[in-house]
Amino acid sequence: MGFIPAELIKKKKHGGEHSREEILWLINSFTSGDLPDYQMSSWAMAVWFKGMTTSEIAYLTEAMRDSGDKFNFSNIKGPRIDKHSTGGVGDKTTLIIGPILAAAKVHIPMIAGRGLGHTGGTLDKLESIPGFRVSLTRAEFQEHVEKHFFSLIAQTEDICPADRKLYALRDVTGTVDSLPLICGSIMSKKLAEDLTGLVLDVKFGSGAFMKSVPEALELATLLKDTGEKNGVRVTALLTNMNEPLGRFVGNSVEVQECVDILSGKKFIDRGIDFYENTRKLSLELSGHMLYLAEKSATVAEGLALAESLLASGAALTAFKELVFRQGPGDLSKLPLAKSSLDVAALQSGFIHKINTEAVGLASIELGAGRRVASDKIDMTAGIEVLCKLGMKVEAGQPIFRIFGNCEEKFEGARQLLLTAIEINDAPPKDLLPLIVKVLT
Ligand code: URA
Repeated sequence: MGFIPAELIKKKKHGGEHSREEILWLINSFTSGDLPDYQMSSWAMAVWFKGMTTSEIAYLTEAMRDSGDKFNFSNIKGPRIDKHSTGGVGDKTTLIIGPILAAAKVHIPMIAGRGLGHTGGTLDKLESIPGFRVSLTRAEFQEHVEKHFFSLIAQTEDICPADRKLYALRDVTGTVDSLPLICGSIMSKKLAEDLTGLVLDVKFGSGAFMKSVPEALELATLLKDTGEKNGVRVTALLTNMNEPLGRFVGNSVEVQECVDILSGKKFIDRGIDFYENTRKLSLELSGHMLYLAEKSATVAEGLALAESLLASGAALTAFKELVFRQGPGDLSKLPLAKSSLDVAALQSGFIHKINTEAVGLASIELGAGRRVASDKIDMTAGIEVLCKLGMKVEAGQPIFRIFGNCEEKFEGARQLLLTAIEINDAPPKDLLPLIVKVLT
């Protein structure tokens, strides 16, 4: 049955509840190109304002998953595990976790994403490695996962095509931070992967789509329930995005941070290891994944296994093998920026707040992300974060370093970064830890 698109948009605009048939029709018509982008973005905005019921969210996720083919990994005898983040700034843990899990011989069939809103995307980061390919054929991906444990691809014409189109549309129409649309996007991809277990990194804070812990908890519960109703064991961690994760925000700079961590390096400045949060979160998430993969009897043992695979260099080897297989990519040719500029603190005091979303937007301003879908990314563009919440700084001291190939963009990014930082005379109270809650 056909529907009149404007009537469905109006129905949602007035807070009505869609039927399964209506949602299926909307998603299929959009995927096939019959429903134009302008009507889909209008509908997505109505969803942003009015939300969706639990049944509507289930229909949306199912329709998006079934918009293309699903993988079948019945050749693999053991567990298939994945991790997905709801989106952050400097959030690069996949590039450490995937290799750790591959080194433990756990199969990870990962459909990953590009930058979304102010957040970065794993695929864009990997594409900063000259020669790296994220567009494998279906058969290649299947073979890589079966034989070599870890592979990543983008959504394609065949796999989750509805998310491929809607993801790109939401990115440029201000409709990213919607609980039902995030659930449909993430879970359609994860349910197409034929997983047995999934670990979700649900971010909260100034750099996340869900700004508060209760909002993130609501999203985590929804994602977890959706996975479990579809036969996937799900663990969700609520993790802190009130400051960028780790040292760098960008593409090639984030890959470099991961290579350094996989190589056992630290980056200590004024007594603080700026790599520590990236390393810690990657290890914690890996511990939960290894537990779900039945490689350990407890999460603590999973964590210890992850630490040993990182320390031995086995995870670094697995990362290099991934880069070779999905290319060959050349890590020795990671592009470097032509220019850089230090952004200095305007006053002395303690770093009280970081508007992490503004840091993400500054990286887009520099060219590390897209303003419109057709934008080409400057893979060298990015930001080095030289301050942390609670740190004491002096006026004139650099708190960020910005990089890129286009110096004309530096001043706009510098202004954004200066507005992102709040400096006070007293240190901030009640800073939340990196991981506030785990839903098992
Ligand atoms: N990651 C996704 O894949 N989709 C979203 O909507 C948000 C984060």
